[in-house]
Amino acid sequence: MKRRKFLIGSGLAVAGGSALYTMDRFGVGGNQVNPYLQGNFAPVRDQISTDLLEVVGEIPKQLSGLYLRNGPNPMASPNHKKHHWFTGEGMLHGVKIEEGKALWYRNKLVQADGFSPNTHVISHANKIYAIVEAGGRPVEIDQQLNSLASEPFHGTLRTGFSAHPKLDSASGEMHAICYDYANDLDNIQHVTVANDGRVKSSQAIPLPSRSMVHECAITKNYVLVLDLSILFSFYKLGRGYFPFSWSDEHQARIGLLNRHGDSNEVKWFDIDPCYVFHTVNAYEDDQGNVILDAMRYQRLFDTDWNGPFSETPAVLTRWELNVAAGAVSEQQLDDVPTEFPRIHPQLAGQFNRYGYCLGVGALATPDFGRIIKYDLVNHSSEKVELGPNLMAAEPVFIPAAGQQAEDEGYLMTYLYDRSLDKSGLVIYNAQDLASGPVAEIKLPQRVPFGFHGSWVAG
Ligand SMILES: [Fe+2]
Repeated sequence: MKRRKFLIGSGLAVAGGSALYTMDRFGVGGNQVNPYLQGNFAPVRDQISTDLLEVVGEIPKQLSGLYLRNGPNPMASPNHKKHHWFTGEGMLHGVKIEEGKALWYRNKLVQADGFSPNTHVISHANKIYAIVEAGGRPVEIDQQLNSLASEPFHGTLRTGFSAHPKLDSASGEMHAICYDYANDLDNIQHVTVANDGRVKSSQAIPLPSRSMVHECAITKNYVLVLDLSILFSFYKLGRGYFPFSWSDEHQARIGLLNRHGDSNEVKWFDIDPCYVFHTVNAYEDDQGNVILDAMRYQRLFDTDWNGPFSETPAVLTRWELNVAAGAVSEQQLDDVPTEFPRIHPQLAGQFNRYGYCLGVGALATPDFGRIIKYDLVNHSSEKVELGPNLMAAEPVFIPAAGQQAEDEGYLMTYLYDRSLDKSGLVIYNAQDLASGPVAEIKLPQRVPFGFHGSWVAG
């Protein structure tokens, strides 16, 4: 495997290392506290609404909108041995900004008849949805973070959904690869939501492996189906654990599904065993090859049954799919452990130069202590170390008004200060991360480490 040496330069340990906590084969051992219930992973109990917010620095006047973030917040007392980070009710944390003023912060549980969507919160066709994979129904959210009783996508969704639909900014269509093994063990679905917010098509794709399809990617012509090395596990399900497990037997592969056709035929490309929660982006080059950048794990959900961070780190990796030849190559682009990649919100499926992500630190002490900006043209990265006691979350890119350059805009993320046990919302100039945040909105409580969110302009 070739490496682009100029991307590599971190002193962080990326391989080996002792785990932060000891595991037995069935979750945390003995009377140990589950790490995903400690520190800033622990849920918050209070649901707060306040318009008394201290701001340090100056929020750019052009910013008006709602910053939303979803994540699991188990309200009952979970079993430490069996608890997995990916489980628990969804809780939204939101900050409303109007013309450079922070109007309010609030946090609210996502209310649902069934499983509370805990993974992402998106806006599409003038509606906001809290979403999750594995058959959970999207829940519509209003601008005040209340859960609505409406049926998702105007009552047109007949299947489960995904935590990671991809928006084609040219058409306004949203594409999602969805699995729901409780109801269909043999197929996944390619769901397309039209720009009017209604499901346009649901196309079954046979997938006998029952793999965990957390994300997809789109290009001009394809939806990418990631059939990787983590499979649904009846063994774990029957014993009350999070029911997905590493598999050495399954052939990992990337599939290309023609997103414009009626056929559910997938052109498969076998790859080395790995797992990917998050794609950075995919696009087609001038020769029609498909380029996929993603955060690749060598192995996980094998010995650690409680979460993703103790087995191998995720690192930025590129696959190039030669569609004509049916061949694929893989190249590790960096060795710094990263997660939660984001790009310009209108570039999914198109060439992108920049990617933004959270640096998760070494295996022995995952700390979320840095924000990384990748320049995939110059093959360089810019890493902002946040300093002792400070830990960020997924950084969301917001394009500037009248944007000229791809990275002209802002990066927003919640920032946790361990010394205060509180969080803030920080706003960076995405072209000048080194100068630090242009503004921090201090929040009255901590925002637990969670998953994904969106900036809803307006
Ligand atoms: Fe995710």
